[in-house]
Amino acid sequence: MKVKDGKAHRYAKLLVYGCQMNVSDAERMEGQLETIGYEPTEEMTEADLILINTCCVRESAEDRVYGKIGEIKHLKEKNPALIFGITGCMAQKEGEALIRRAPHIDFVLGTNKVHELTRVVQEIAAERGHVVDVQPGETELPEGGPVARQNKFSVWVPIMYGCNNFCTYCIVPYVRGRERSRRPEDVVAEVREAVRQGAKEVTLLGQNVNSYGKDHKLADFADLLKMVDAVPGIERVRFMTSHPKDLSDKLIETIRTGRHICEHIHLPVQYGSDRILRAMHRIYTVADYRALVGRIRAALPEVSLTTDLIVGFPGETEEDFAQMLAFLEEIRYDSAYTFLYSKRSGTPAAEMADQVPEALKHERLERLMTVQDAISREKNEALKGRTLEVLVEGPSKHDAAVWSGRTRTNKLVLFPHGAEQPGDLVEVNITHPQTWVLKGETVASR
Ligand code: SAH
Ligand code: SF4
Ligand code: F3S
Repeated sequence: MKVKDGKAHRYAKLLVYGCQMNVSDAERMEGQLETIGYEPTEEMTEADLILINTCCVRESAEDRVYGKIGEIKHLKEKNPALIFGITGCMAQKEGEALIRRAPHIDFVLGTNKVHELTRVVQEIAAERGHVVDVQPGETELPEGGPVARQNKFSVWVPIMYGCNNFCTYCIVPYVRGRERSRRPEDVVAEVREAVRQGAKEVTLLGQNVNSYGKDHKLADFADLLKMVDAVPGIERVRFMTSHPKDLSDKLIETIRTGRHICEHIHLPVQYGSDRILRAMHRIYTVADYRALVGRIRAALPEVSLTTDLIVGFPGETEEDFAQMLAFLEEIRYDSAYTFLYSKRSGTPAAEMADQVPEALKHERLERLMTVQDAISREKNEALKGRTLEVLVEGPSKHDAAVWSGRTRTNKLVLFPHGAEQPGDLVEVNITHPQTWVLKGETVASR
């Protein structure tokens, strides 16, 4: 603990891996830590508390966390008072095994225990010792806790937790539990409060937002989206992720008629052959997905579609893979996140025969990325000369004289500074489209 101006300051460093849900959880953890006197620090060596909010969706994510855990051992040797905790999906999955493997970890807190953080930290600060709590959550979701938002103009708001889909490759349902939807009034209240504090853009989060409300039946996702769209002062409403199996026509119509709902849908297809989709337990066929995209594009001609793709699922043949490449050429996504299949023990796919050799997975991933990158580039090139609305986020990572922001279709835009500030909506003329970014110049602010 440091004493400055006669006041005690404690510093916390949070490292976050994984998806937006983990980022959102971390913002809630940081909000709680502030209430017991912790201030954030960028310096690991300054910290009195280090937390790693972990992801276990792929082995590579876990390897990174183990690497960090190793690094922190040295900090703990230098500063035995340092409190070190592991939270998030890997904490949920590994529990006590983490402390057995690395006894310099003080506590392990599961994904349903975000709201228990301050209690556990205070307990350890007072008494030391280890704490492991990975019990499943209560039925009542904790509401109303403080949130320390990373970006006050563009905010994440979780609308539901967990997943019921059990795709055969995926660990998420095991570490996040069953679907639990927040009450619509709680979501709307959080959005209102964020807007009051300056938010222009909100992204509603869930592993599959389309099944929002199937548990409490107070509202479905389209209803919720409409309510959030009606919050005074909101400029942009986004949502992710949409499972293709239950994206309804009602939802498409809600997006079409919405005032602020952005025309971007992240609609992971995961694979492009029926055989593999069936083995993945994705519920839809290539034809179902194609028809859905047809309905979406007919209603929303400006929509951008993005996807997740997994290469090297067990049993993948050259024939399956060729179908996937053809499907990408057909759908023409704006961009895609591409992953090498990673075996997760405890999931059905881990036990399947015909695991694809690593070298072949890598080779296919390269081929896939070559095809998709060319499509992404062509899609972006078609925007040359267009003027697009951009929400200014902040300085670009590489050049402080350049702002970075996003279009309504969620494309990254870079443009030289004018008088505008982060949080402003500006019109940018696209002059140099590239594969991953659109470069341009502002034409007017509003
Ligand atoms: N609920 C969301 C996101 C889940 S995790 C959805 O259904 O889209 C994000 C992505 O990680 C998934 O879309 C999938 O493409 C990928 N993924 C999940 N498990 C994986 C595994 N075992 N190996 C490789 N990629 C995986
Ligand atoms: Fe995983 Fe499938 Fe659930 Fe997404 S929908 S989190 S891929 S099980
Ligand atoms: Fe990872 Fe957990 Fe998200 S496993 S992808 S952090 S839900």
